[in-house]
Amino acid sequence: MLLLKNVSKWFGGLPALQDVSFGVPRGRITALIGPNGAGKSTLINCISGVDTTASGQILLETRPIERLPAHGIADLGVARTFQNLKLFARLSVLDNVLTGLTVAAERSFFRSMLRLPALRTQERQLRLKALEALDDFGLAEKANWPAGALSYGEKKRVEMARAFVGDPRLVLLDEPVAGLNADETARIARHIRQKRGAGHTMLLVEHDMELVMDVADQVVVLDSGRCIAGGSPEAVRSNPLVLDAYLGRMEATA
Ligand SMILES: Nc1ncnc2c1ncn2[C@@H]1O[C@H](COP(=O)(O)OP(=O)(O)OP(=O)(O)O)[C@@H](O)[C@H]1O
Ligand SMILES: [Mg+2]
Repeated sequence: MLLLKNVSKWFGGLPALQDVSFGVPRGRITALIGPNGAGKSTLINCISGVDTTASGQILLETRPIERLPAHGIADLGVARTFQNLKLFARLSVLDNVLTGLTVAAERSFFRSMLRLPALRTQERQLRLKALEALDDFGLAEKANWPAGALSYGEKKRVEMARAFVGDPRLVLLDEPVAGLNADETARIARHIRQKRGAGHTMLLVEHDMELVMDVADQVVVLDSGRCIAGGSPEAVRSNPLVLDAYLGRMEATA
């Protein structure tokens, strides 16, 4: 589904990503792990067009997307969640999920302007779709609540509903269970497994190794912007380079 070829990115002369290459197979979960500051969010930002790469190629199926703007990449069916939630606190939960559908809505805007009844029908359809997505994530009863009034765990689920509402080809999840308790983590894990069962392709950034080992089909390890290992969860867990990257960082901060 996605292929990264020698992707590099600098922030003010410091390398954040250096020659990162790996593939994200269709219908699978690829986990991207690594210590704090490894470049995981930067990579998600580059794939989704929030950031631009300095060099390298990002292919969605066979199409290069590394020079497209974020809305162009969203239009091609790449959806994401954010490490630090990005919801509109004063908008309703439903309206927040609807923002995941704006691209599709805009596409037929001019057509709809000419036919007002068709616009109303379309709006109803979009709201129905957003409600279905909320129901999927156990939030239908709170559709009319202001998003800001939800618990942290519920907000994380709204972000997931917004990412999945448009039937995306690829979903990038940046730390979906960070800060959640065991119950909420188990709930998100169930949703992720259910979406994988439905055939979704995901790139999952996560520090929660239990979740990664549980749901990932393959794991890619970043350390200081470099891809240092990749393979099955079992192979990666026992890779000395990976243990080194994590232990080294723990010793440095001890
Ligand atoms: N906008 C920015 N400007 C300057 N430096 C940045 C910027 N964004 C990230 N960096 C730096 O790039 C490196 C990678 O950061 P990134 O946020 O991608 O790490 P991460 O792997 O997502 O870490 P974490 O697990 O803590 O979320 C870090 O050294 C960070 O300080
Ligand atoms: Mg991050």
